[in-house]
Amino acid sequence: MKKLVVLTGAGISAESGISTFRDSDGLWENHRIEDVASPIGWERDPETVMKFYNLRRKQLFEVHPNEGHRALAKLQDHFDVQIITQNIDDLHERAGSSNVLHLHGELKKVRSTVHPELIYTMDHWELKMGDVCEKGHQLRPHIVWFGEAVPMIGIAAEIAEQADIFMVVGTSMAVYPAAGLIGFVKQYIPKYYIDPKAFQMPGIANLKTVNEKAGSGIPRLAKELLKMN
Ligand code: OAD
Repeated sequence: MKKLVVLTGAGISAESGISTFRDSDGLWENHRIEDVASPIGWERDPETVMKFYNLRRKQLFEVHPNEGHRALAKLQDHFDVQIITQNIDDLHERAGSSNVLHLHGELKKVRSTVHPELIYTMDHWELKMGDVCEKGHQLRPHIVWFGEAVPMIGIAAEIAEQADIFMVVGTSMAVYPAAGLIGFVKQYIPKYYIDPKAFQMPGIANLKTVNEKAGSGIPRLAKELLKMN
């Protein structure tokens, strides 16, 4: 089976009703990154940070995967599919994708502020001050904040290097190191970029842009890939 590696971003979950970050009315238009998504913000005002992620988590319990997520899951019947997502939602998993690597953490998980290896999955949406790990320390969202290392990036780069086909979906390719992963894919490998604002990236060979939403663009490309397979 050919290895199909898919890098996804907020755009793939947009049709499920989750806001992106940099589109008009995106999350970063209404919140300052340094207030809600940085270690300094957490130190200054953890309640505001918690509230921001609590609202996202509450919404996650109410939304569902869309055609884009489902089409990627169906491709597993024909390809060895590995998803690398910048998203903190679990919509790929709920659509049935088995191999999902979360670069920026997971909204439904929280971890100890003192013992980062103590990670817990939440079955409810609200994390509060005073919620502690088994050793008695405050829990925080299991999210990679700006200014923090991206622990999964090395594994992600290795996966990208092994791709026989590479797909990018619903990301502005504005945030590094995630956006740099396409640079690890071999030059001759076919690459597809599905996003209404998809663009040609300098230095990236064999890249086909598909200026379409994920919900229609992925199923259409999936049919093409199956014909070529
Ligand atoms: P962005 O908000 O930067 O980009 C979203 C992309 O989705 C844009 O290119 C849109 O054109 C596209 N888009 C919108 N609707 C779409 C649809 N229906 N189908 C397909 N594409 C669509 O989000 P990301 O690139 O994911 O990090 O942002 C990367 C990281 O920046 C996030 O993981 C987050 C953020 O700050 C952290 O919080 C650490």
